[in-house]
Amino acid sequence: MAELRTRIAGLEMENPTMLASGILGQTGESLFRIVREGGAGAVVTKSIGLEPREGHGSPCLLELDNGILNAMGLPNPGIDSFGEEMAVALKAGAPVIGSIFSDSPSNFAALARKMEGYGAAAVELNLSCPHAEKFGLDTGSDPAKVAEIVSAVKSAVKMPVFAKLSPMVPDITAIALAAEDAGCDAIVAINTMRAMKIDIDIGKPVLRNKVGGLSGRAIKPVGVRAVYEIAGRVKVPVIGAGGVYTGRDAVEYLMAGASAVQIGSAVRERGIGAFGIVSAEIAEFMKENKYKSLNEIIGLARGK
Ligand SMILES: Cc1cc2nc3c(=O)[nH]c(=O)nc-3n(C[C@H](O)[C@H](O)[C@H](O)COP(=O)(O)O)c2cc1C
Repeated sequence: MAELRTRIAGLEMENPTMLASGILGQTGESLFRIVREGGAGAVVTKSIGLEPREGHGSPCLLELDNGILNAMGLPNPGIDSFGEEMAVALKAGAPVIGSIFSDSPSNFAALARKMEGYGAAAVELNLSCPHAEKFGLDTGSDPAKVAEIVSAVKSAVKMPVFAKLSPMVPDITAIALAAEDAGCDAIVAINTMRAMKIDIDIGKPVLRNKVGGLSGRAIKPVGVRAVYEIAGRVKVPVIGAGGVYTGRDAVEYLMAGASAVQIGSAVRERGIGAFGIVSAEIAEFMKENKYKSLNEIIGLARGK
């Protein structure tokens, strides 16, 4: 099998697949299983805030033809009780990346400090939730605010800091550059995109929150474009997300310039084994096409 081991922003991974934030990442036990049974190279926790939060009422998740529409509204147990889950997740032996969200640079910094104390390998800043009012896009679409948050977190912790971006901005490279200038160690792209489903029989939006975030196959071309644009401008590694279901999807992101991929929606379809399956498919593709290392593929479509 082709060598899939990789190192991203100092994190050693058995393969370039990671669990995306928000899918089965709320308990230590599920994070543990996703590494040990599912074969993920790293896992990202559900986004955690300062206080416990219930999120939006149901219906908050719909399966569509080409993806998933969710308006979970960032439900989470709050940072103070998350240490126990982290302790269980860490036993799996792979890097555990703590995802956090907040409404101010100082609170982001406080959350990151706690995640570091819990043993997180890195922190991922959710700057891009499209359906949680003050915690999302307003912040993530303003380069100055993004820079302020990244700097606050960088000065609070020693571990690597990842910035997770939304594609719903006129120029995603401006946000990525602001995050990089402020010291972030990797960029994650993309979060979900604002979308809606209407039940025409009752004449109303289906989601309780009306608007949700679209993920899955439907957004893959947007994610690939975002990664391609960002990787052309920043020096830090880019981690691709959005519609990765197969090894060929992952290779597409790698060729756009991603160093690794995150998998979210596909876990609902392919089960927690998705990571091992996608990794084996990447290795198969490399063998068939005589690529010896991931580095030969990363950025290939850019004519690097
Ligand atoms: C049900 C659900 C919950 C999510 N929750 C979070 C979250 O808490 N934090 C976050 O940064 N992204 C969250 N996301 C976005 C995913 O991490 C990912 O960026 C997006 O779904 C695209 O990847 P995918 O197409 O593989 O699902 C969520 C996605 C889904 C489907």
